[in-house]
Amino acid sequence: MTEKELIGIFDSGVGGLSILKKLLPSGGHYLYFGDTKNVPYGNKTKEEIINFTRNIIEFFISKGAKRVVMACNTSSALAYDTLEKEFGTIIKIHPLIQTVAPYIAREGNIIGIMSTCATAQSKTYTKEILKANDKAVVYELGCPDFVKIVEERLYDKKESVEYVKKYLNILLDKGCEKIVLGCTHYPYLTDILTRFAPKDIF
Ligand code: DGL
Repeated sequence: MTEKELIGIFDSGVGGLSILKKLLPSGGHYLYFGDTKNVPYGNKTKEEIINFTRNIIEFFISKGAKRVVMACNTSSALAYDTLEKEFGTIIKIHPLIQTVAPYIAREGNIIGIMSTCATAQSKTYTKEILKANDKAVVYELGCPDFVKIVEERLYDKKESVEYVKKYLNILLDKGCEKIVLGCTHYPYLTDILTRFAPKDIF
């Protein structure tokens, strides 16, 4: 029996575990890297995000991985294009945003994206969704402290609930038919989000 191919999967912290959980039933042999030393990525420069991501990809290559899942929206938005050029012939990179955008594009014409500020500013979701649905109107909203709430498990604090609600309302006021949690940390906020908006909007 041949040994299973090693697949690297990473995020800036615990967020990517939500993606790993979905992948595990496929039976792959995964190595997870959470870059908790450098989290959060979302308020760093493009250059910093590329450097953090490059180090992780080099680590996976050193471990013998032939594939890497970028379970980090911020890396997919800011670092994928550069690192695909650097490493594309050595390791197959699967970027999150570019992979999911065609599916999101079918979900409606007014689409809100909650993400880190770096992802929102890059407008990668808008570019990728428009490739699949040129009628789509996409609102990208950077949500600065969401990652802190998740990493520090501040879910139960009244201030956290008010903070999340404030950002959600910005997209609801735009009339979004679908709201995408465009950061792998945000599914951990689902309990709060679904208190103020119907479950099926996410
Ligand atoms: N979880 C990451 C993402 O999907 C980034 C969060 C952060 O480190 O700011 O974008």
